[in-house]
Amino acid sequence: MEEKKDRIPAHVAIIMDGNGRWAKKRGLPRSMGHVQGARVVEKILKDASDMGIRYFTVYAFSTENWSRPASEVAALMNLLLTYMKTSIPNCMKNNVRVRIIGDKSKLSPEMNRAIRELEDTTAGNTGILFQIAVNYGGRDEIVRSVRRLAQQVKDGTVAPEDIDDSMIEAGLDTSGVPDPDLLIRTCGEERISNFLLWQGAYTELYFTDVAWPDFTKEELQKAVDAYGGRIRRYGGLKQ
Ligand code: FPP
Repeated sequence: MEEKKDRIPAHVAIIMDGNGRWAKKRGLPRSMGHVQGARVVEKILKDASDMGIRYFTVYAFSTENWSRPASEVAALMNLLLTYMKTSIPNCMKNNVRVRIIGDKSKLSPEMNRAIRELEDTTAGNTGILFQIAVNYGGRDEIVRSVRRLAQQVKDGTVAPEDIDDSMIEAGLDTSGVPDPDLLIRTCGEERISNFLLWQGAYTELYFTDVAWPDFTKEELQKAVDAYGGRIRRYGGLKQ
């Protein structure tokens, strides 16, 4: 029993790709793919928690996504705002703690208020940590951390030669959370696309052709099993 638990990744991250293609295939607007995608996120979060996964991080809106058509950006932001505003009861029921990662300074005041309320209300929950990346880019996150350190050097509180991994890590949005063990990307693309660049240095990658709106608990289990198989083969060494 103990051994089986060891093979469950503590932290799973997901690039939820294929919402647009899923919708197009059905003759629906792209935004309907995102609506279905959002339903699937909530379901898979619960499944992940039931499987014993402790941290679950999803790429909901990247720093590059602003260049999509204005109507699609608005639809995505609306969907995310609705989630922030309505998910508190469900998170409390399921003991989920929520944290938003990414540069929140470019999000609307209304979104920031909703995020704060969701994060504050769920802060004491002890179950799975659900990290939602909004206006997130891995390079942008590293730049923000380095800028913070540069300011400390300028202020004379940090010496350049004292800067190490842990000081850069401390300035990341994910600070304090273990690096992802497993990164899943759906719908056929095999790229990292600027997601968790620093944190993903040793992360196992899993790609599937299934589009995100069609993703199921069985698909998650397949990814976790593949991860478990690799860990057994390589002895779980991380470096
Ligand atoms: C990629 O598919 C998906 C996105 C850019 C958005 C993902 C966002 C959600 C699923 C909603 C998240 C909601 C919550 C509650 C966290 P794509 O549009 O790039 O698809 P395509 O490659 O087929 O065009």
